[in-house]
Amino acid sequence: MTHQIGILAGDGIGPEVIAEARKALGAAGVGHDAVEYDLGGARYLRTGEVLPDSVLDELAGLDAILLGAVGTPEVPPGVLERGLLLRLRAELDLYINLRPSKLRAGVASAVSFDRLSDLDLVIVRENTEGLYAGAGGTVHRGTEFETATEESLNTFAGVRRCVRYAAELAASRSGRLTLVHKTNVLTHAGSLWQRISAEVAAEQGVELSYAHVDAACLWLVDDPARFDVIVTDNLFGDILSDLGAALTGGLGLAPSGNLNPDRTGPSVFEPVHGSAPDIAGTGQANPAGAVLSAGLMLAHLGQPEAAADLDAAVSSVLAAGAPASTGEWDTALAAGLERAGS
Ligand code: IPM
Ligand code: MN
Repeated sequence: MTHQIGILAGDGIGPEVIAEARKALGAAGVGHDAVEYDLGGARYLRTGEVLPDSVLDELAGLDAILLGAVGTPEVPPGVLERGLLLRLRAELDLYINLRPSKLRAGVASAVSFDRLSDLDLVIVRENTEGLYAGAGGTVHRGTEFETATEESLNTFAGVRRCVRYAAELAASRSGRLTLVHKTNVLTHAGSLWQRISAEVAAEQGVELSYAHVDAACLWLVDDPARFDVIVTDNLFGDILSDLGAALTGGLGLAPSGNLNPDRTGPSVFEPVHGSAPDIAGTGQANPAGAVLSAGLMLAHLGQPEAAADLDAAVSSVLAAGAPASTGEWDTALAAGLERAGS
């Protein structure tokens, strides 16, 4: 079965890392029909278009989407974030942002841990609500009365489907789920998240613990073994996953999947890093985050063995010392895949 994959390589190092991810799919024996889309900062600067409705309609009919990174320094903040990334997340109902954080042998963490296995966790970030929903506004702009509000939206159904996904994931791993929030200050949303988490954890038979987000940051550095699956809201998940990346070798290695678990449309897989215009074209981009994102895509598309092989191959390349340049990854990964398959 050949999957139809939308390729949104994007800007900066996006095309460089996506090229490697596509080679890795081939090396893992996964054929795919690539449908390439020119979206991102360059297209916006050229045409003023961010995500034309006709393109969104086409994307919605694909099996999955692989995204590199979008953004160029000339594009004002928010244009591509809201207009492309968050719009895709909302329109395709990608309500889970899956962000595994795993420390692999040979990788330097920002902190030294006794055992690699102490840091192998997954952040399940709610991906369509919270402070990202776009509620809020500005009045009296440019005057001393200017008032800016950003409102966090948390719906019962939205929180429940997110926590259910996380609890099922926890049940398939260690059986431990941690809710991260700030229930002592954000009492309205906090109470909703807490009540739903307690109910869902009981329903799924997983052990539920709770950490305030500030304490969770401290424990992630101090004692990450206490976490296995973390479920949290959109903004907390955004912030925690960058910390998770720093602890597991940096943003270059961190993968993510924006999932529509109900499969009413394609899911979007992207490395957590941005377009890094400062190193674009220098051959220094680390494609591991993009390759691991392609691995998450395979798992979602029902090819867990190929997904596991890719993950193992990345581990084996890193264990041997990461290649110095982007272009050296393909041969290194091919060798890693051979070791993983044998
Ligand atoms: C991420 C990014 C995005 C987010 C931005 C670019 C909109 O930081 O995927 O983590 O905040 O979700
Ligand atoms: Mn982020």
